[in-house]
Amino acid sequence: MSIRAVVHGIGMFVPEKVLTNADLEKLVDTSDEWIMQRTGIKERRMCSDSESASTLAIAAAKDALKDARVDASELQVIIVGCVTGDYLFPSVSCLVQEAIGAKNAAAFDVGAACAGFIYSLNVATAMIESGQVTNALVIGSDALTKFVDFTDRSTCVLFGDGAGAVVLKAETGTDRGVIDTVLLADGSGAKHIDLQLGGSKYPVGRDYSEGKRPYIFMAGSEVYRFAVTAMGDACCRALAEAGMEASDIDLFVPHQANLRIVDSAAERLGLPPERVFKNLEKYGNTSGASIPIGLCEAVQQGRLRPGMVVMTVGFGAGLVWGANLIRW
Ligand code: ACO
Repeated sequence: MSIRAVVHGIGMFVPEKVLTNADLEKLVDTSDEWIMQRTGIKERRMCSDSESASTLAIAAAKDALKDARVDASELQVIIVGCVTGDYLFPSVSCLVQEAIGAKNAAAFDVGAACAGFIYSLNVATAMIESGQVTNALVIGSDALTKFVDFTDRSTCVLFGDGAGAVVLKAETGTDRGVIDTVLLADGSGAKHIDLQLGGSKYPVGRDYSEGKRPYIFMAGSEVYRFAVTAMGDACCRALAEAGMEASDIDLFVPHQANLRIVDSAAERLGLPPERVFKNLEKYGNTSGASIPIGLCEAVQQGRLRPGMVVMTVGFGAGLVWGANLIRW
């Protein structure tokens, strides 16, 4: 009998501090009208000085463990999708492991930007389905506002901070669980979104002189064009692999980067608005956290219930993209 990776609990956390479009109007030459029209974002959450990707991840992890009624000591692996870790090393997952007391868990991070949760969920699912582990914690956490240039209007309006987490357990004799995942990458698009300073090529300090900046760079319209096609392609491929149709999707939870991108993906799948989850108005683009926060709020609102088919899809720096099909 095949082993399935079933979601037993979900949690989330966002910082208290709210950064509105009106706040941004005071920082750069922009307007609430422009931001709403071009992105659909009204406000976003922002870490305080004492918050970081790990503190967000720890709070979301505790919430998910409580929801799953699983003790941290039962976890065998913690995987965190994150590109804004507290440090280059150690990983955020090790900081989470220590903070929640998951003494029996392996821990590692996955660097797949806004597709980080999709990639991480796939790794955990493979570990469960192969019999390597029975209990896994998967987190998407990012603190992008720490790396945003608040004088650059083309990026500072887009991003927010947050974390979401799920507890997965191995089960047999069920049709619930992760059904299929598609993971894709195209490194030729690496130049379209990057943060060059602080890595081993341009270590902090030396390279200010080379004109490198410690902030996110993004060629917005290139990423936009890529995303519109990539989101739909990944979804269609996952559905085909699972032998399912778009009409089988009860809820679509796409990466919340831009309302126009979300709407075009939903349109390509022919999904009516009630089957499409959106919360980007409140949070902006929270990178790896966007999809698990969406799933968590969908559960809280009663829009995602056990047995329903949910599709996630995301894209981000790399370029990377992918989709999960899950029977909740
Ligand atoms: N306020 C006012 N005007 C602005 C702003 C702003 N905040 N930002 C840009 N503009 C101006 C530009 O300067 C430009 O002016 P110009 O015509 O005089 O040159 C004009 O608005 C149009 O700019 P575009 O970049 O063409 O605007 P577009 O409609 O493409 O929207 C946006 C820009 C919102 C960034 C869009 O391209 C987008 O959402 N791209 C995808 C981004 C994304 O999803 N990234 C996800 C990955 S992030 C990760 O992996 C970490």
